[in-house]
This record gives sequence, structure tokens and C-alpha cells, in this order.
Amino acid sequence: MSVKKLYIETLGCAMNVRDSEHMIAELNQKEPYELTNELSDADLIIINTCSVREKPVSKLFSEIGVFNKYKKKSAKIGVTGCTASHLGQDIIKRAPSVDFVLGARNVSKLSKIIDVKHAVEVDLDYDDSSYTFGEYRTNPFKAMVNISMGCDKSCTYCIVPATRGDEVSIPSDLIVQEITKAVSSGAKEIMLLGQNVNNYGKHFTNSEEKCNFTKLLQKISKIDGLERIRFTSPHPLHMDDEFLNEFASNPKICKQIHIPLQSGSTKLLKDMKRGYTKEWFLNRCAKVRKLAPEATISTDIIVGFPNESDDDFEDTMDVLEQVRFEQLFSFKYSPRPHTTAAKFDNQIPKEIASARLTRLQKRHTQIIDEVMDAQMDKVHSVYFDELKSGSRVSGRSDDGKLFFVEGSEELLGQILPVRVTKTSRGALDGVVI
Ligand code: 5AD
Ligand code: SF4
Repeated sequence: MSVKKLYIETLGCAMNVRDSEHMIAELNQKEPYELTNELSDADLIIINTCSVREKPVSKLFSEIGVFNKYKKKSAKIGVTGCTASHLGQDIIKRAPSVDFVLGARNVSKLSKIIDVKHAVEVDLDYDDSSYTFGEYRTNPFKAMVNISMGCDKSCTYCIVPATRGDEVSIPSDLIVQEITKAVSSGAKEIMLLGQNVNNYGKHFTNSEEKCNFTKLLQKISKIDGLERIRFTSPHPLHMDDEFLNEFASNPKICKQIHIPLQSGSTKLLKDMKRGYTKEWFLNRCAKVRKLAPEATISTDIIVGFPNESDDDFEDTMDVLEQVRFEQLFSFKYSPRPHTTAAKFDNQIPKEIASARLTRLQKRHTQIIDEVMDAQMDKVHSVYFDELKSGSRVSGRSDDGKLFFVEGSEELLGQILPVRVTKTSRGALDGVVI
């Protein structure tokens, strides 16, 4: 009998990427599956969805239509992830060709429900006592490791608490065990994942366990053979000095940090329930720049949040000027179900939001061009993890920049000094020295 084939589409954040790996591992425990990029070859199609903005949600149903047209008749379709969590049964009502719906917090149930026609599993109750890490990894050189599930905040624009549930911290010993395992099978770099990683340790099921994020980082960095630690995403509110000192002084922690701003206006930050002010945010970024001048800072910004005035938007532009983020993910505000901001008066007209987004992105492009141009001839330590076509190998520098060099698979798994020979907005070319 031939091995079954799986076509999996992953939308959204790193958390979803890891959940997809988790589902592949779950399936393989039951019977072997091979991954395919050919829809028409697949026996099982999974769409692992994101619901953070409206667009991907509306795309889902047209995509199911396309999949139905091109898939094998016998192939099953599953909708998983955040949109599955928030629409649940309604997905099957609207698209009866969908065989099962599995919420973001339920990925480990995949092998149980795969043969149950029209199964819907979207509950959010889940504690850490039975937490298991999926065995499958897309890239053997890097491992993503969840340190918490869910979110304990209530940012007024955000649907995630409704799709991923309350925050639960995974016991630190389990995390250390999992990383040790990944390192022994070849991963020199790990990415710690959580909705608010530096809030880690507030929600253990076992009240005896005491460990915060800084302590977790210290524990993890003792693991022999582990060379690089990354994490996403920290919350600006919980960036205390203890954490920033650890970030700056621990040589295993990569000098790349995501500090999601959302808005530069203290008034809007209050309406968003972010818990910090413009000044606090600037102060934390200044501290990172002072303690770790080599670090890169990335951010998320939402424009057009309800009530955003020209002055509020100028505050956001001002933060961009002051911090000069090395990477920016920027979005037009999208009203989401189960969020309080969706009911706020004074929603901003689309044209105004679009014009603000364009201005923000244009200015950021100028900044990033300056940042990247200044990299010429600089030397970075690059961890090679992917073979590319045309005898090229790619990897990331400690501060997260994407590098390409000429070479072959001997480079894979090595961390080597590379001199920049060509710069562009998205990546750098270099030579190993
Ligand atoms: N509208 C637009 N952007 C949003 N984000 C989260 N919710 C919304 C929304 N309703 C953005 C935030 C977050 C990133 C993952 O997505 O910037 O940090
Ligand atoms: Fe990730 Fe949020 Fe999208 Fe869910 S809704 S996939 S948590 S970005």
C-alpha cells in the first residue's frame, strides 16, 4: 500500500507553524504520511488558519471551493487553527465538504478525530499536566519550542484570547527536556514560543513551580550544545530591567528582539488596554540600544484603530523615527468578533487608514535601506540551515538578518563568520571568511 499524502497550508504566526509540525507528528503516530505540495496528490488536506485579521478568514471559504475542485475525490479536508476555534461548527454549516474542524488548542487530538465525519473540537480547556511536544521538525537545525499556551491579556483589538484561550505556562523541566532532546538530534538554535513569552511563569497548574522568563532563559542556556536562543513575542509591559540585562549579557541569547508597539499614542495604547505608555516603550527600546547596541529591534504597528487622530498617528511616526526599527510588521486595524474595540464608536474610514499605512511603510523602507546599506563589509556570525538552488546556502546572523552565500551542504549546521559583499532590503550576500 502506498504511503498517504498530506497537503498542509499554514497561515499566521510562528505558533501556527509549530502547530502544523505538531499535527504532522500526531498523524505519523497513527500511520505514516508524506508531505506533498501537489493538491491533487493529497489524501488529506489541512488548512491551518489565522483569524487575527478579517482578510484571511474570508479567503478561507473561497479556498475550500478551489480545493474541492482540484482534490482527489476521496481526499479529506480539515480546517484547523484560530479560525477553526472561533467559527467552529459554522465552518461545516457553510462548507459541508469540510470533514473536520480542530481549534488551535486542540491540535493534539488530530489522530483521534481524523476518521470521525464532521468532528468539531474547539474547546479551550487545557492544562499543562498532559502537555506533549510534537516530535516532527521541519528544519533539523532549528527547533521551535512552546513555553506557554494562550494569552492572559485583553487587548481590545485582539481575537487571540478567544481562539487560544487562557494562558498556561508549560513546566520548565519539560521545556528543558524538550530542548535537550532537540539539541541532541542536531538543533543548535531554538525559538521559544508564546503569546507573551516574558509573562512566563504566572500560570502553572502546579502552584509549587516558581520560574519566571529570565530564570527560564538562564536554565535553558546551561544546556550543552545549544548555541542560540531566540524567542517570540515578548510584551513591552513585562520588559523589566532584570529581563533586559539577561537579554543583553547572556551570550547564547540572539541579539534580536521583537517589541510590539501597536501605537505610539499613549491615549490609544490605553484604549487598546496595552498597559504601557509611549514613554515606557521608548525607554525600554533605549535601554536595549544602550545595553546591546548590536541588537536589532522589530515591531508590530496597527494604524487606523478607532479614534486615531492625526496627532495620535504622528506619535506613532515619532516612535518610528526615534527607535528606527530594523523590521516592521504593519497592519490596518481590522474589527474582529469577540473584541471590545469592534464596538467602539468612531471607526476610522478605510482611506485614512490606508494613507497612514502607506506613509508609515514608506518611511520605514527608507530607514531599512539605510540600515542595510550600512552593513556592507561588516562581518556576522551566520548559522547555515537551508540549501538553496544555484549552489547557495542561507542562514541567519545572530541579529536575525537573512544571509546567502555560495556553498554546498557542508555548510549546513555550522556557525561561521561571513563578510557582507552585497546588500539589499530583505537579505545580504556574503562570503565565508
Ligand atoms: N487588526 C489589525 N491588526 C491586528 N493585530 C492583531 N489584531 C489585529 C486587528 N484586529 C496585529 C497586531 C499583532 C499582530 C500579530 O497582528 O499588531 O501584534
Ligand atoms: Fe497566530 Fe494570532 Fe493568527 Fe492565531 S490569530 S494564528 S495566534 S497570529
